[in-house]
Amino acid sequence: MGDIHDPALAAEGVERVEWALNEMPVLRRLTERFSAEKPLAGIRMSGCLHITTETANLARVLVAGGADLVLCASNPLSTQDDVAAALTTHYGIPTFAIHGEDTDSYYRHIQAALDHRPQLTMDDGADLVSELHKSRPELLGDMIGGTEETTTGVIRLRAMAADGALKLPVIAVNDAMTKHLFDNRYGTGQSTLDGIIRATNILLAGKVFTVVGYGWCGRGIALRAKGHGAHVVVTEVDPLRALEAAMDGYEVMPLEQAAARADFIVTATGDKHVVDRRHLEVMKDRCVLANSGHFNVEINIPALEAMAESKHRLRGVVDEYRLGDGRCLRLLAEGRLVNLAAAEGHPAAVMDMSFANQALAARYFAQHRGELDCSVHPVPAAIDREIARLKLDAMEIAIDTLTSEQSHYLSSWREGTT
Ligand SMILES: NC(=O)c1ccc[n+]([C@@H]2O[C@H](COP(=O)([O-])OP(=O)(O)OC[C@H]3O[C@@H](n4cnc5c(N)ncnc54)[C@H](O)[C@@H]3O)[C@@H](O)[C@H]2O)c1
Repeated sequence: MGDIHDPALAAEGVERVEWALNEMPVLRRLTERFSAEKPLAGIRMSGCLHITTETANLARVLVAGGADLVLCASNPLSTQDDVAAALTTHYGIPTFAIHGEDTDSYYRHIQAALDHRPQLTMDDGADLVSELHKSRPELLGDMIGGTEETTTGVIRLRAMAADGALKLPVIAVNDAMTKHLFDNRYGTGQSTLDGIIRATNILLAGKVFTVVGYGWCGRGIALRAKGHGAHVVVTEVDPLRALEAAMDGYEVMPLEQAAARADFIVTATGDKHVVDRRHLEVMKDRCVLANSGHFNVEINIPALEAMAESKHRLRGVVDEYRLGDGRCLRLLAEGRLVNLAAAEGHPAAVMDMSFANQALAARYFAQHRGELDCSVHPVPAAIDREIARLKLDAMEIAIDTLTSEQSHYLSSWREGTT
């Protein structure tokens, strides 16, 4: 079962999945609990996630908890074929994902995951839930709920809910503190720089590095680029975020101005065509363009294609576009998530927390079947705190506790200036 590139890659995949598990102590703890308690017994689940070593470890927790699980890819370029092989042939989890699959195969694989008739879905970008509503509405009757991993997916689902189109309850895993504070910031920060460096091997020190969007991901990317010695420029549309970037020590300016100076431009907005034709027109020769936002729409690639006289693959995932005026612009990973397409995605230690949220959100749905309405719900605060505690324990970090005097003081209003 499943549709993978090559089953012979399974042994390599298993080794890498086990390696990642070393860095995932919270998931290890949840595997023990789920094996004993079987909170997902008999529940059919379909996950549309990046098929990486970390996702394989999440899948193992869900199956340990009794779930009947299948997986498909949430991005055509993020699948690790050895992991897909390991999942399907070694861990017994049918996986429909092939690195580099075309759009037709991508959606065929999503349909295969829906053929499983899921009661719970797990999304990264909301493609599965969106297809479920658009093409398989007859399956909605059996649904218990769905979870969503990323900012862009949560935005899409909130838009569906606002339209009255969302027909199942969803938990926004992205919005948990133990998700976006760590995964979006430190995970995307490190892995985006990793992807750019692997793809180009260009020294960052002394270069002008523009980050478009100073949200959770943008903050992490800017921080890590600064750590490499780059001169970081931030562009924003939100005045609060722009102010924060300025006070964090970055130059802030409109992208049209920044584009003329940048050696690198990296987008992380969840928005469309933030790098547009007017920016492409003023960029320096050999400027490197990359995206770390969820979809490949942040850079206006059709405009770039239209402006180019020629295009050729320079190396690995680097496409060079030669423009009519002689300038060359270099696009990484076809504008798709550079940290997953050119590197291995987030390090396991941050996915440990993100995926603990996924597993516990699934357990929450199983325990509260039928209780949530068809809207987008936060991860219960108790789950967030439990994950933070488990992670601290695993890192052997102890913290203080409030004394009863302090608890009383913090909950009363009578004491003031003395
Ligand atoms: N690469 C990864 O592995 C990864 C991980 C997590 C999230 N994501 C994706 O990254 C994107 C950003 O996520 P986030 O959590 O940082 O979101 P966020 O909402 O915290 O930040 C996005 C920022 O982009 C800004 N923005 C929007 N349009 C802009 C424009 N035209 N120019 C400049 N700034 C603009 C917004 O004002 C906001 O501050 C989303 O698509 C999310 O799904 C990717």
